[in-house]
Amino acid sequence: MRRPTPPSLLVTAGPTHEPIDAVRYIANRSSGRMGCAIADAAAARGWPVHLLLGPAATAPSSPAVRVERFSSTQDLADLLDARAPLHDVLVMAAAVADYRPAPSAAQRLGKIGRGEGTLHLALEPTPDLLAGASAHKRPDQVFVGFALEPRDRLDEAAAAKLERKRVDLLVANPLETMDAADVEATLLRPSPGARPTADRLDPMSKEAFAERLLDVIEAIRRDRAPAAANNRLP
Ligand code: CTP
Repeated sequence: MRRPTPPSLLVTAGPTHEPIDAVRYIANRSSGRMGCAIADAAAARGWPVHLLLGPAATAPSSPAVRVERFSSTQDLADLLDARAPLHDVLVMAAAVADYRPAPSAAQRLGKIGRGEGTLHLALEPTPDLLAGASAHKRPDQVFVGFALEPRDRLDEAAAAKLERKRVDLLVANPLETMDAADVEATLLRPSPGARPTADRLDPMSKEAFAERLLDVIEAIRRDRAPAAANNRLP
């Protein structure tokens, strides 16, 4: 039997930088390592991979990964609008800011000086990029989201996020494991008419987790199109 065509993957990784003025920004501590590990693992399987990478020091090691950089949530929103329809799988591992400085005179004028006295920074919520992309998701596409939640309410918070973002798979990690070398993930999948299924994985390296995640994505694609896969001519 012929091997199925490898799916094309769009993966996002790293933090966003949200400009306060021309030289300052709000950021977060995401290293981008998880998304880069996923990109490398997929490229090693022969998947065409396009990585949207935020301002992180990490980069994928595989030269086969096409990398495009973003800085702010708005940059990433524009890239996702253009690229998401072109891929079979979207893995949203980027740590997108939840809030950004509201447009202000300071941004238009350049650099805020010390002479301004006490400054009050107004923050506005960013749009939910993954939920926005999911609204246009085709039935053949597989979308994966990530969530960082306190361990004591990981399952319920992640289940709510799975539904709100309408993804096929949500990777929930305990907040307490942030910055740890190992990933301690629970994989949630929607289950029609029932509570989502939750698969709690043993702690493992980011590289081992990337392989596991790709196995699950392959299984979702196989479950979804068993007829298409089996009936293909040799
Ligand atoms: N995400 C996104 N757009 C945002 C924020 C997050 O697409 N503005 C994506 C992340 O890339 C991740 C998932 O949504 O895959 C969950 O991110 P998280 O910050 O945990 O979710 P929020 O929707 O921001 O929920 P919360 O209220 O818990 O912060």
